[in-house]
Amino acid sequence: MARRIVIFDTTLRDGEQCPGASLSPTEKLEIARQLARLGVDVIEGGFPIASAGDASAVKMIAQELRGPTIAALARSLAADIDAAAAALVPAKKKRIHVFLATSPIHRKYKLRKAQAEILRQSVWAVQYAKRYTQDVEFSPEDASRTEPEFLFQVIEAVIRAGATTVNIPDTVGFAIPDEFGALIAGIVKHVPNIERANISVHCHNDLGLSVPNSLAAIKNGASQVECTVNGIGERAGNASLEEIVMTLKVRQGFYGVTTGIDTRQIYKTSRLVSTLTGLVVQPNKAIVGENAFRHESGIHQDGILKYRRTYEIIRPEEIGLGASQLVLGKHSGRHAFSQRLAALGFRPSQQELERAFARFKDLADKKKEVFDDDLVAIVEEYLPSEQETYKLVYVHTTSGTETVPTATIRLSKQGKVFQDAACGDGPVDACYKTIDRMSGLSAELVDYTLRSVTKGKDALGEVSVRLRHRGIQVAGRGTSTDIIEASAKAYVSAVNKLVSSTNRRSYVKRRQALHP
Ligand code: KIV
Ligand code: ZN
Repeated sequence: MARRIVIFDTTLRDGEQCPGASLSPTEKLEIARQLARLGVDVIEGGFPIASAGDASAVKMIAQELRGPTIAALARSLAADIDAAAAALVPAKKKRIHVFLATSPIHRKYKLRKAQAEILRQSVWAVQYAKRYTQDVEFSPEDASRTEPEFLFQVIEAVIRAGATTVNIPDTVGFAIPDEFGALIAGIVKHVPNIERANISVHCHNDLGLSVPNSLAAIKNGASQVECTVNGIGERAGNASLEEIVMTLKVRQGFYGVTTGIDTRQIYKTSRLVSTLTGLVVQPNKAIVGENAFRHESGIHQDGILKYRRTYEIIRPEEIGLGASQLVLGKHSGRHAFSQRLAALGFRPSQQELERAFARFKDLADKKKEVFDDDLVAIVEEYLPSEQETYKLVYVHTTSGTETVPTATIRLSKQGKVFQDAACGDGPVDACYKTIDRMSGLSAELVDYTLRSVTKGKDALGEVSVRLRHRGIQVAGRGTSTDIIEASAKAYVSAVNKLVSSTNRRSYVKRRQALHP
């Protein structure tokens, strides 16, 4: 049977240890719930001695989540271990994770301690933590820069003291895969009692090698990897959970191991972590980047339309994303263009298609990405013109810390004014819910951006939205000195485009019925 790799998630501890990513205890709990749905084996909830917020986050997570093991970090000091143990009291399955630096540079400049002292303190810390739980992990910090013989000695001693997991951190991201793999192989070979503990690795990304190093370690005997969602963490970050898990899945034949991760939860988890930490995922990030499943080159789009696997090694559904997207731009070919028109309900004749394609190429040269409403505009020569079905007449919202955000909206349609109201998560959301109710279209808000188009306190704000409804994507824009009004205007303009394109679809169908 395939070896099962333990996924130890440290998004809430090491991941949060990065500039600007501070999370409140309730935000940590929300992420922890999603990590449990994702199927991680261990959640490191925080470093309780470091702050009251961390202690209470670990406690809240330990209280609620019964599936994964909950871990808390502690230096090899009594006060730290006591704080970790106190936060973990409610946990069904708990782990205390103690660490102490072992490398010459840390011993000399940071700790000012000799090898013998480090060895003694490591053993003491593990024994002290064992008073609280059987499950104790020990990390020789900066292990990859520690003399191997001394590292083997420390590992053997902490296992004898009761450590059930020994974690080998590449604290400063200095290791390279061949070397790190050999270090793990050396531990397997030279630590006599190693079979009594799990070998874990914890790699940082300073040279962009955290994932390859983690994978090399797995190949050489590591059975646990420590990682974070979106690879967030100290400096250049930690090894990315989604990249490790998907590599092990896609290249199962090479690694021969499994994990307990439900990969369909990956995208959702990535979005949640990005939203709550405010750390934007780079568009070309492997697995979860915005462009990871988007194809623009004409050759690639043609290949994808003929057989997905020509250019896709992961089905987007496997990570919980909808179908991959063919982005229409200047590199796109006729095949993708006519497929998109068909999806929008248009079936132009060959001659019409050639004309529309030429105009599309023209536009794509000027515009980075061509959206569905641009396509609709291109083919509108032979279709009825777009109508402004709804007009925003009045918008009023209430919101505040003690108030349920509510919007009242008046729209006019064919000269008649009508009104409705709804609540939402904020004033903009309340407006959008109200407009959805009034139009009867429940569109998905794919994108919302607000920018100031003029300077000063009375600056004009411009809101751009992108909506998706039944496979059609349209953009809308609105400007006003009031951002709520600009938001409502943008939404109404996008809704008008959706209504027009729905009307066009039925017009095309009618026309086809008359002139098949
Ligand atoms: O990078 C590191 O060495 C750590 C340890 C505390 C495991 O985060
Ligand atoms: Zn770390």
